[in-house]
Amino acid sequence: MNQTPKRYTITAALPYANGPVHLGHLAGVYIPADIYTRYLRLQGRDVVFICGSDEHGVPITIKAKKEGVSPQTVVDRYHEIIKKSFSDFGISFDNYSRTSASIHHETAANFFKDLYDKGQFVEETTEQLFDAEAQQFLADRFVMGTCPKCGNTESYGDQCEQCGTSHNATDLINPKSTLSGSTPVRKQTKHWFLPLDQHQDWLKQWIIDDHKSDWKPNVYGQCKSWIDDGLRPRAVTRDLDWGIPVPVDNAQGKVLYVWFDAPIGYISATKEWAQKTGANWAPYWQDKDTKLVHFIGKDNIVFHCIIFPSMLKAHGDYILPDNVPANEFLNLEGDKISTSRNWAVWLHEYLLDFPEQQDVLRYALTANAPETKDNDFTWADFQARNNNELVAIFGNFINRVSVLTHKYYNGEVPEPKAFLEEDELVLNELKAYPRVISDSIERYRFREAQSELINVARAGNKYLADAEPWKLIKTDPERTATVMYVALQIAGALAVLSEPFLPFTSAKLKESLGLNSLDKSLNWERIATADDYIAPGHIIAQSPLLFRKIEDEEIELQRNKLAQTKIDNQPMEEAHTPQKDLINFDDFTKMDLRVGTILSAEKMPKANKLLVLKVDVGIDQRTIVSGIAEHFTPEEIIGKQVCVLLNLAPRAIRGTESQGMILMAEDADGTLRFVAPQQKIMSGASIR
Ligand code: 2FM
Ligand code: ZN
Repeated sequence: MNQTPKRYTITAALPYANGPVHLGHLAGVYIPADIYTRYLRLQGRDVVFICGSDEHGVPITIKAKKEGVSPQTVVDRYHEIIKKSFSDFGISFDNYSRTSASIHHETAANFFKDLYDKGQFVEETTEQLFDAEAQQFLADRFVMGTCPKCGNTESYGDQCEQCGTSHNATDLINPKSTLSGSTPVRKQTKHWFLPLDQHQDWLKQWIIDDHKSDWKPNVYGQCKSWIDDGLRPRAVTRDLDWGIPVPVDNAQGKVLYVWFDAPIGYISATKEWAQKTGANWAPYWQDKDTKLVHFIGKDNIVFHCIIFPSMLKAHGDYILPDNVPANEFLNLEGDKISTSRNWAVWLHEYLLDFPEQQDVLRYALTANAPETKDNDFTWADFQARNNNELVAIFGNFINRVSVLTHKYYNGEVPEPKAFLEEDELVLNELKAYPRVISDSIERYRFREAQSELINVARAGNKYLADAEPWKLIKTDPERTATVMYVALQIAGALAVLSEPFLPFTSAKLKESLGLNSLDKSLNWERIATADDYIAPGHIIAQSPLLFRKIEDEEIELQRNKLAQTKIDNQPMEEAHTPQKDLINFDDFTKMDLRVGTILSAEKMPKANKLLVLKVDVGIDQRTIVSGIAEHFTPEEIIGKQVCVLLNLAPRAIRGTESQGMILMAEDADGTLRFVAPQQKIMSGASIR
């Protein structure tokens, strides 16, 4: 689409309502979609931003079975949790709907019926995998086996998570039922297929020819490989009891395939929004001057670029997406994020540890977004982004401007005098930023856009550092007034330009700068053209603390949580050695265990692992040689209370007699900890 579209329909992938959302979801889909939408709204464009919970499909049934509750109970619970997380993080949907809503059932059923009536399906009775024990057909995630494309032995029936291929369950090698573990048999059943082979030609033209230059290479590449391999008919119905009933005769026990109904959810959610607001939904999906953009993760590419467009085309009344800026995946501390292994940072848990710090996570995730390749989220990077960029650059600039304006002028914007070259220079630089940031956002390069935003604050800091108003005020009050006036314009620009990325910060900043009471409202357009948007005499409030330093201990806590998850995930036999042979009570009482206090510690010369300790054990002070030098420094253990095995026969270690042993506990990853009394107790207290 070359000229500015009349309106925009922005969709973000409907998350499955079988678990809460984590930071991978935010980074991959919802933050980029939100930045894009907020930006469009700031340009005054007509836009609707749509999402909702994906409440059908096998994963939800599996979860419900595991918990012994109904699928509806599962989706009701997670729909609310997910919806709240999105709202807490400022994801500004115009409507967050759900696919169990009646408007969706009706829309999806009608869509199917329309295609059916137009003869757009092929009806076929084929052999499908059937679990004879569970007496159930094995669609999608009810069956696992080896992926015919990449050899992954844990591929699902409909999709391989390793290579992203989407296939039919009957394509799997060595299939196994996830319900009973048995090998499925084949049984005949009737289904409706979308004949993708008949859509191959126009898809080829539309994607390979028309979108070669404007779709992201990762998206284009996946589509091309699909089309080059040759498209095959895809079943769009399933033998399941959870989903939208197939709305034609003789289809008892059959529902729409979740990937048939879910994308129609975007349309239903738009209809629901229109009902609530009195708008007309149709042009947002049917007018060719509407730009439709789907934000998704890479595992959804085929569904949004090939299958859903084929459904829309087959229907005939709908527009096709203009772009599908799919992201790659975000890993967490070097490992793939996984719900089942709890290897994730859940959004609702993040907010418990970092209350009101949504923008920090938004910022760190955008700075490190998996836009062109898989990326890794680390807590160290999160801390560095906050401390070195948000606090040291953005927050520092705003704080200086606010403090100095209050100190010198009681919060009133001063009257500038003649502008010098450096003032003109920075004001002109400022005018260029809205354009630079827009260009990046319009090309879906959100990391680049956000780094340009930080450059605005950087320019502000440099300007102040060069002009040194805190020195000038003593010698040249007129020049100081000009410098502070210019700095205040930069602060105003930051408040506005940061809105798509840091909406909470932007709101606080706009409030404290009193931007909402300006005569002419400050927007991207004015930043690009004027340099007098916060006029002399305007009063600003003290700036609230925008960002605070994140301490090492807070990061340590998060890392420890993940380390604990790793331990929890280890198979029992790896994490724990088997129990030793039984002993009797007499054997136990032979050990003389007492509390000791470490009086001194030094490294044993020429022995990397050994410390020589002097330990007060009540009855005497004795020397103990301990192999803990790689885990503790002498300084950190002096004064610590420990458990000592007193009556271990003395032995010479590197020429020093060791008269006992300190008890240690060892973690699965080799970390050593002292076994020690919880409260201080006298040295020599016996342990029983
Ligand atoms: O992958 C997923 O999480 C799917 N629930 C996405 C659905 S997107 C759409 F088509 F609704
Ligand atoms: Zn595969």
